[in-house]
Amino acid sequence: MTNQLIEQLKWRYAVKKFDNQKKISSQDWKALEESLILTPSSYGLQPWKFVVVQEPKVRKLLTPHSWNQTQVEDCSHFVVFAARTSVNDAYLDFYFDEISRIRGVAKESTAGYRKMIASDLQQGPRSKNIAEWAVRQSYIALGNLMTCAALLKIDTCPMEGISPPQYDEILGLNKTDYRTAVACAVGYRSSEDKYALAKKVRFEPEKLIQTI
Ligand SMILES: Cc1cc2nc3c(=O)[nH]c(=O)nc-3n(C[C@H](O)[C@H](O)[C@H](O)COP(=O)(O)O)c2cc1C
Repeated sequence: MTNQLIEQLKWRYAVKKFDNQKKISSQDWKALEESLILTPSSYGLQPWKFVVVQEPKVRKLLTPHSWNQTQVEDCSHFVVFAARTSVNDAYLDFYFDEISRIRGVAKESTAGYRKMIASDLQQGPRSKNIAEWAVRQSYIALGNLMTCAALLKIDTCPMEGISPPQYDEILGLNKTDYRTAVACAVGYRSSEDKYALAKKVRFEPEKLIQTI
């Protein structure tokens, strides 16, 4: 199991050229969507939306706002991670309704937890930059997606080389409580992608891991 994990993490690389003929099966894609949904978040608030852009015309519009990177149009599935801009009372109402419904608990029993979240995210220092906090949360989902995909031998390319304001406009996120954070192209590497052969550049463990 550990061998397989490390093998797949070494197999994974940021794909520069996808095979535009190879599509992810619906079964595999369903599992990857689950990996997004099952991603943990601070307080369990899930301050994100995963916009899966499958419409070729929309992808074409995104390309010039993605440093013209070909992955946007050539990959099988293109995911835009959008992060919430606020954690307001309406959102907390929604969240606590879900807790109560799913766990079958009375709302009163969660009042203390709600107060704790509010004192941190609505009143505390973190409240000054909720959008940034939510973006950080969304990167956890990005990591989860890439690792889970690698375990299924599915390729990815995480993409920060995009222009979030233009993405927001094209995807209609402007009118919502969400804004583009980062994107990820998912699919299968082209046999012509020479980056697949490049050696991984990673610092020595002593530089990165400090055990105290
Ligand atoms: C958040 C993030 C954003 C990235 N953005 C891009 C990008 O826009 N285009 C690209 O080709 N690679 C992008 N990369 C890939 C990195 O350059 C790559 O992961 C890094 O060089 C390590 O190489 P490896 O992933 O192939 O092991 C990004 C990586 C991360 C984690």
